[in-house]
Amino acid sequence: MIELNNNRQSFRHDVLIIGGGAAGLSLALRLNPGTRVAVISKGRENTGSTYYAQGGISAVLHSDDSFESHIEDTMNAGNGLCDEKAVRFAVEHGPDNIQWLADLGVPFTKDTHKDGSKSYHLTREGGHSHRRVIHAADATGRALETTLINHAQHNKNIELYDQHIAVDLITGGKLGLKHNRCIGAYAFNKARGRVETFQARCVILATGGANKVYLYTSNPDGSTGDGIAMAWRAGCRVANMEFMQFHPTCLYHPKAKTFLLTEALRGEGGKLLLPSGERFMEQFDPRGELAPRDIVARAIDYEMKRLGAECMYLDISHKSAAFITSHFPMIYEKCKEFGFDLTREPVPVVPAAHYTCGGIMTDLNGQTDIENLYAIGETSFTGLHGANRMASNSLLECLVFAESAASDIRNKLAEKHSWDKIRDWDESRVTDSDEEVVVSHNWDELRRFMWDYVGIVRTNKRLERARRRVDLLLSEIEDYYGNFRITADLLELRNLAVVADLIIRCAMERKESRGLHYTLDYPDTDDTQPVTNTILKP
Ligand code: FAD
Ligand code: SIN
Repeated sequence: MIELNNNRQSFRHDVLIIGGGAAGLSLALRLNPGTRVAVISKGRENTGSTYYAQGGISAVLHSDDSFESHIEDTMNAGNGLCDEKAVRFAVEHGPDNIQWLADLGVPFTKDTHKDGSKSYHLTREGGHSHRRVIHAADATGRALETTLINHAQHNKNIELYDQHIAVDLITGGKLGLKHNRCIGAYAFNKARGRVETFQARCVILATGGANKVYLYTSNPDGSTGDGIAMAWRAGCRVANMEFMQFHPTCLYHPKAKTFLLTEALRGEGGKLLLPSGERFMEQFDPRGELAPRDIVARAIDYEMKRLGAECMYLDISHKSAAFITSHFPMIYEKCKEFGFDLTREPVPVVPAAHYTCGGIMTDLNGQTDIENLYAIGETSFTGLHGANRMASNSLLECLVFAESAASDIRNKLAEKHSWDKIRDWDESRVTDSDEEVVVSHNWDELRRFMWDYVGIVRTNKRLERARRRVDLLLSEIEDYYGNFRITADLLELRNLAVVADLIIRCAMERKESRGLHYTLDYPDTDDTQPVTNTILKP
């Protein structure tokens, strides 16, 4: 790192990675030794979704399984919208990436066989026709994130800047230069309350999803779609934002802040029940509880609305207590904290916003529409997930595309280069806000109308209502942003409003129901037309 001035407000690195989850950290660790890397993040390990991942990572690891089968399952879950090239690419690179993680020391759960030999335990989740989800008990994300951070911390070429929120990308175009390459980003240092300048030869958005745009979500607070909003403002295309995935089973308890109950519980035999104790999933899909997520979440939503019920129930109590506590120790303890005993009774569940299938358009190297700007992980749209992501394909995507982006970046860094001159952040025209209430009010309003009008079941009328509200919010927020000093809440709200707008626009463009996008006005999938992605251009 080159420090450009004494009080460290401007920095230069070869590579700037925005986001320290599975995608960002894997990429940092895949670059050549000697490459100077900055990783900026909102906080050290648990501000992104990676830390909270439960079920595991899908990959073909058993001799009974095959790449063709994983590809077919992914394409089926994606409802005709997956890009087969991207699916094949991700699936075929899966096993090597798992080996890479095992070599780094991720403690994946193992089975001991009768002859004393060991192999990785593979679990099952919705949509998978084979056991192919490798995991570290029920806290895979925690094991993954802490292992990656530990390696990054011990790598002298990687600098971790936590408590930093990237504000906007810096491109040649924005500075009036002859080229439009991405050359860095401005980032708000929360600890110091000021905006710093990060200049780099390559910039990577690895900022995770945008699920905080909904009132109820399984995601941590940092999932505010910042990368998608920044890329959009910088001129990148964004695609398929109508496909927001709702996870069917989050614990229903006023204090649980939507705690996830992994799909692996259903993979290992968990059943979904009505409040009366009856099973219902088989009426919706022959695969029952292991149907793809869009189908299960919609079925729960339907039954809740039909019965006026607050929740449905998930029951795995027919399995032995020893099985449950050894396979799901973290979930068992968490449920106990809220007064539920997973080994003895059904637990109440509701769906919540979980995963952003759309995002910043990239090629198979993570390259976006802007030269030297990459997007990887949940913030990206690679074509892998189509209209509905299959369980545990997300961490796989983070790893595989981090690897391919790293290889492309290595080639870029070998080229000749000269640094552009970048202006520091100008705060001369803003003052401290005297009306913080505008920010908190707009946060609540946005997430509430997105939940009510742009949720699991949509209609034209609801989308139009949401559209009018988001238009108003966008203009109020821009006005506020132009006049007052930056805060973390304001930055995230500004990005959430952009993302909400993109979701609504994509949802309005799709005149059919497909995968995660379900609308009462067009309840059928339209197979009479060639199936297309919904691509928005700034
Ligand atoms: P994240 O892990 O979300 O990390 C984003 C990073 O970007 C964070 O470091 C954050 O601080 C940083 N960031 C964001 N905005 C900014 C900004 N403006 N400036 C600076 N930094 C920023 N997927 C699976 O495949 N298997 C599972 O078992 C699984 N379980 C899940 C369970 C839960 C509860 C959740 C929420 C998700 C789960 N998923 C699972 C999905 C998966 O965890 C995520 O899609 C994946 O971890 C995303 O990784 P990422 O690196 O793209 O982003
Ligand atoms: C889960 O464990 O149910 C989440 C898996 C995923 O989101 O892929």
